Amino acid sequence: MKFRKSSTPAVFKPLRGSEIDGKRVRLREKKLSDVHNDYAWQCDAELSRFDAVQVLELPFALYLLDYSAELKKPRRTRFALGIDNLEGKHIGNCTCYEIDEKKNEAQFGIMIGDAEYRDKGYGRDAVNTMVDYVFQTTGLNRIYLKTLDWNLRAQKCFTGCGFTPCGETRRNGYNFVLMEMYKEQWEKGRSGNKGDEAH
Ligand SMILES: CC(C)(COP(=O)(O)OP(=O)(O)OC[C@H]1O[C@@H](n2cnc3c(N)ncnc32)[C@H](O)[C@@H]1OP(=O)(O)O)[C@@H](O)C(=O)NCCC(=O)NCCS
Repeated sequence: MKFRKSSTPAVFKPLRGSEIDGKRVRLREKKLSDVHNDYAWQCDAELSRFDAVQVLELPFALYLLDYSAELKKPRRTRFALGIDNLEGKHIGNCTCYEIDEKKNEAQFGIMIGDAEYRDKGYGRDAVNTMVDYVFQTTGLNRIYLKTLDWNLRAQKCFTGCGFTPCGETRRNGYNFVLMEMYKEQWEKGRSGNKGDEAH
């Protein structure tokens, strides 16, 4: 899908059922049927370690209540999408959050939850697809992210998409690398077709 470049405000507009096509993935609005995968991924010890968070211990029924409330009333500061492969299988999620309409920036997070789909280029394609969408359709000028200093796969994926390291931070005893991409960098990178070759 092509999106028109415009002088839009920083905010995201609801997709209203349309999808964002990458080369290997399709990004689409979150839906209630994602709840089973999302719950399983949040209860997964390996994924929690990659995210430096505690394994979720909430009973499924309570998780479902929060989940459906969030879907009904999405926050303006958060734009979450499901990542499907081209056959429509839900393999992960990516999110812009802490969307700051004054600074025109947002934090980015991604998870290929289904381990079978890691290390096969789906993450890189999802990041490229989301970044293109953000810079083509919103007024955001900067996307930044944090990743654990030992998560070299994530860092390789992000640098391959055009993110550059911009500092370090420490939280709860964990060291994180900060990375960022400005719209200007993205424009230059995309004109040189940077980092989106197929594996
Ligand atoms: C991080 C993540 C999104 C990356 O997506 P992915 O589909 O697995 O990654 P890709 O295949 O697109 O790219 C990974 C790159 O890292 C490289 N890589 C893999 N393991 C590596 C390692 N241990 N050290 C260095 N590089 C590594 C791959 O070769 C590939 O580089 P290349 O494309 O130049 O060959 C995904 O692995 C994931 O969700 N992991 C679990 C959760 C997580 O780490 N989230 C990130 C939190 S910030």
